[in-house]
Amino acid sequence: HFWKGIVLSCHGCPDKCLCSSQTVKCQNQDLDAIPHFLPANTKYLFVTGNNISRISVDSFPHQLAQLTDLYLSGNGMESVDAKVFNNLPNLVRLDLSNNKIQMFSERAFPDDNKLQVLNLSRCFHNHSTTDVVLNVLQSGNLLQLTVLDLSNNNLVILPDGIFTSLPNLVNLSLQNSSIVSIQNGTLKGPPLRDLDLRDNNLRDLPLTTLAEFSLKPDLHIRLAGNPWRCNCVIEDMLLWLNNSTQVLDMQNLTCADPKTLRQQLLSQVRQSQLKCSGDMEGVLETSYVFLGLVLALIGVIFLLVLYLNRKGIKRWMYNIRDACRDHMEGYHYRYEINSDPRLANLSINSDV
Ligand SMILES: *[C@@H]1O[C@H](CO)[C@@H](O)[C@H](O)[C@H]1NC(C)=O
Ligand SMILES: *[C@@H]1O[C@H](CO)[C@@H](O)[C@H](O)[C@H]1NC(C)=O
Ligand SMILES: *[C@@H]1O[C@H](CO)[C@@H](O)[C@H](O)[C@H]1NC(C)=O
Ligand SMILES: *[C@@H]1O[C@H](CO)[C@@H](O)[C@H](O)[C@H]1NC(C)=O
Ligand SMILES: *[C@@H]1O[C@H](CO)[C@@H](O)[C@H](O)[C@H]1NC(C)=O
Ligand SMILES: *[C@@H]1O[C@H](CO)[C@@H](O)[C@H](O)[C@H]1NC(C)=O
Ligand SMILES: *[C@@H]1O[C@H](CO)[C@@H](O)[C@H](O)[C@H]1NC(C)=O
Ligand SMILES: *[C@@H]1O[C@H](CO)[C@@H](O)[C@H](O)[C@H]1NC(C)=O
Repeated sequence: HFWKGIVLSCHGCPDKCLCSSQTVKCQNQDLDAIPHFLPANTKYLFVTGNNISRISVDSFPHQLAQLTDLYLSGNGMESVDAKVFNNLPNLVRLDLSNNKIQMFSERAFPDDNKLQVLNLSRCFHNHSTTDVVLNVLQSGNLLQLTVLDLSNNNLVILPDGIFTSLPNLVNLSLQNSSIVSIQNGTLKGPPLRDLDLRDNNLRDLPLTTLAEFSLKPDLHIRLAGNPWRCNCVIEDMLLWLNNSTQVLDMQNLTCADPKTLRQQLLSQVRQSQLKCSGDMEGVLETSYVFLGLVLALIGVIFLLVLYLNRKGIKRWMYNIRDACRDHMEGYHYRYEINSDPRLANLSINSDV
């Protein structure tokens, strides 16, 4: 067995793989593990679109000293165990995108690793497992990491200090990751130069965050595809945007509300349009509805009172009618008397 392993690892191309020069591709083969006997001079390894649910210390049993690029996307991978990359001392680029990772050991990478590019795009099983997986970023041994892709994950909120242990992080993508806010200090540590925040759920950026951006003059940011709320709260950000060259897609930012400013370009919104009247309109609308309800209720109570008092009212009506009739009859009588010339004198006499 031992000799067979040596021979294969020196010369052979594994079953279901294609080898050319220093590149080995084992793609879409329904493999359930990484082939063991890879050419010892492999530099680029693609094991993508298979069915490898777990990688562990057994996944690379032989050292591959020249391997720099490892692509493991689309494997339905759930678990990345401790020491898995110990036999890949020169690993620079690792692609774990499009997996279902729930467990990522903090000791997956050796202390002296040379990892520079880590792709974790759409790689988490679900939102509740992201914290566990993100621990690896805080493990403190990804000291060379310069490019991190966290796009297409349902992150919502970035845990405190998530990037503070990445002293060389330059490119960070958080595109389409459901992010609702960037907390004070989150991006403070690393020397970021490219930050992609497109297609999230940001409604405004607070002054403290903008100030942190300004402190990194080399930083360029992309912000399009967020539902900016163009009311008085966004005024600080608008002032900052108009005076900053850091936002590359400034011309592509649009308001999502209020209704009157929907689809309006942020760069064309005037300060006088940024009222919080949008909210006042809402308040007024609801108070009108409330007023209507109160009036309706009063009307119903009034009708109910009328109904309950119907006998009294009837009696009252009769009284009025009788009073009217008496009065009318008296009037009629008098009229008849007055109109009879023979009785005129009599009537005058009786009045006196
Ligand atoms: C992947 O492997 C698991 C067992 O580990 C198996 O149950 C499943 O059917 C496989 N999926 C595909 C698409 O082959
Ligand atoms: C990460 O992987 C996705 C898809 O698998 C790809 O589109 C993206 O460009 C990769 N990111 C980087 C930084 O290479
Ligand atoms: C996340 O996945 C775990 C394990 O499959 C499951 O128990 C949990 O309910 C899922 N959570 C959500 C929010 O989907
Ligand atoms: C955005 O991310 C979600 C996962 O959170 C994914 O299902 C969806 O396809 C992504 N959208 C795009 C345009 O890539
Ligand atoms: C960093 O990001 C920018 C913009 O997305 C890109 O042009 C550049 O190639 C990236 N650099 C690296 C080293 O990936
Ligand atoms: C933001 O963080 C800095 C220190 O990182 C702190 O001095 C400041 O008070 C914080 N501001 C807010 C609004 O939390
Ligand atoms: C505009 O930006 C410059 C530097 O880019 C800065 O010195 C100045 O204070 C800014 N003005 C405002 C009003 O923010
Ligand atoms: C603005 O958006 C358009 C269309 O989505 C795109 O083609 C263009 O590249 C974007 N511009 C910038 C600076 O991102």
